[in-house]
Amino acid sequence: MCGIIGYIGSKAAQPIVLEGLRRLEYRGYDSAGLAVLNGTGLQVRKRMGKINEGLACLLLDQPVHGHTGIGHTRWATHGPPADENSHPHLDQSGRIAIVHNGVIENYDRLKQRLTQAGHSFHSSTDTEVLAHLIGEHYQLHRDKPTSGNPLLLAVCDALREIIGTYGIAVICTDQPGILIGARRGSPLIIGIGEGEHFLASDANALVSHTREVVYLNDYDVATLTRDGFEVQNLGVVSAGFKISKLEFGSMDAERGEFEHFMLKEIFEQPRAVENALRGRVDTENATARFGGLNMTAAELRAIDRVIIAASGTSWHAALVGEYLIEELAHLPVEVEFAHEFCYRNAPLEPDTVLLALSQSGETADTLAALREAKRRGHRALAIVNVVGSSIARESDGGIYMHAGPEIGVASTKAFISTLTLLSLLGVHLGRMRMLSGNRALEILRALQAAPAQIEAILQQNHLIRQLALKYARADDFFFLGRGYTYPIALEGALKLKEISYIHAEGYSAAEMKHGPIALIEPATPTVFLVPQDAMYDRTMANLSMIRARKGPIIAVATEGDEQIRQVSDDVIYMPRTAEPVYPILATIPLQLFAYHMAVARGCDVDKPRNLAKSVTVQ
Ligand code: AGP
Repeated sequence: MCGIIGYIGSKAAQPIVLEGLRRLEYRGYDSAGLAVLNGTGLQVRKRMGKINEGLACLLLDQPVHGHTGIGHTRWATHGPPADENSHPHLDQSGRIAIVHNGVIENYDRLKQRLTQAGHSFHSSTDTEVLAHLIGEHYQLHRDKPTSGNPLLLAVCDALREIIGTYGIAVICTDQPGILIGARRGSPLIIGIGEGEHFLASDANALVSHTREVVYLNDYDVATLTRDGFEVQNLGVVSAGFKISKLEFGSMDAERGEFEHFMLKEIFEQPRAVENALRGRVDTENATARFGGLNMTAAELRAIDRVIIAASGTSWHAALVGEYLIEELAHLPVEVEFAHEFCYRNAPLEPDTVLLALSQSGETADTLAALREAKRRGHRALAIVNVVGSSIARESDGGIYMHAGPEIGVASTKAFISTLTLLSLLGVHLGRMRMLSGNRALEILRALQAAPAQIEAILQQNHLIRQLALKYARADDFFFLGRGYTYPIALEGALKLKEISYIHAEGYSAAEMKHGPIALIEPATPTVFLVPQDAMYDRTMANLSMIRARKGPIIAVATEGDEQIRQVSDDVIYMPRTAEPVYPILATIPLQLFAYHMAVARGCDVDKPRNLAKSVTVQ
């Protein structure tokens, strides 16, 4: 996933574009660049590496001046991270500059045709081919003027030849008064200002300038000027658009007093759970209520199977959702890696519903799974954090997390919000079936107590940091759990892997004895999730197998459990709660542990190597 931004107005474009790129850098940070129109020509500056190490230094030496500009921060797909592969890219004439988020699948054939027509290329990217294609059409429209803006016509003609996905911003030296944006499959938003307008991949880049935005739809092409904008749909005049208000402010997209966004977002989790619960807990009827499922009670009762499709951390949440919905609603649930669901011909009954889980709402694999379910005539719901994202818009109904922007590449508060909402959904579906009011109330009250309990666990941040320093030199970790906390073991391993680059494996504690226990040795610590739940005795038996082989043990246990101390090297306690709510509480220590391990090892916590916040390619 890449980040793009555009500005047209009366202010200097460079600082606005650069600040916007910094707010989008979590989307990809292999390289960054910008282009500004200065009345006589295009000024382009681009450099590989993170903004502060590359582009920002370049601009100190060679600033650019002008009031119309575009910028890009890259997560490399076609072409390795390199100065020449950084965006913006220019057309053959050097008049047109574009930035692009997406993948052009037919770029090779187009490149061959353009090369035969005399075009020369400086990069190995698909984006440069699109720039040249727009330039070729622009030349044709300039040579044979017709009604309509030649740049807009050229962009539309070029996009009709594209197979693949795009979110683009385009400027041209002949047309300093306009900025063009277009999208298909990659998000693009218009920001509406006073005497200025913006384009951006997501709202984080706009929120310090405006709260009024337009979420563009696939095939939309927008023409922005200082004083207004028009939206067409690939040549069908005046496509409809809706002005929306952003539900968060610029402080939400700032780090504040925290050293990293990830730590800030870990500490925002009590509020994230409160936001997920707000207006959805109906204790009077011992159930939960949702405004956006767009399904009647009869339709919800008729559901006979739920397929939960997701990727990464969201897939771990899906595994918890399976336990929750099967236990609370007695509904069969199947969890699918989104990318697998799309390509295997899973048999689906008429009343099978697909539930997509996604923080960003832009994960290409998950979006593809949702589209596949809809193509086969099934209702597709979604739990999403980013308002107006592709998955949110293409689902038949769903639930917003309201967790606020999640900037850290490692997902934390969105995961906890998803678990909260899956618990509420389990209660909601269960109370339409055979879930008793007492059991439902027990879970609802446990959820309502969770924010304060998370706060209590966060108070152990210093202790967990000491633990991280103690184990920071380990090269291999196991994370083990059973039942509801088995998926949390997987999540703890992923958190550690993706930000500290330590090899870590999550397993069912029971599965260890079937082979992986061969890897246990004094140099390999194991984080054991051992709440005092129904699996406690069996989990303790699994723990003793590890201990017998001298594997160091860090236990995450329930407050008051003294027995665990006898069999563990270190213990992190969490408050007692209802069994289905332990996944929420047990995750917090693992997030903090991974965070402090990464800091201790000098890793870039918010922008881990090779990663991006959302993977918008399949
Ligand atoms: C989790 O920390 C990772 N950033 C990654 O696994 C992420 O959860 C996955 O790419 C899915 O993203 P989504 O929730 O935005 O769809």
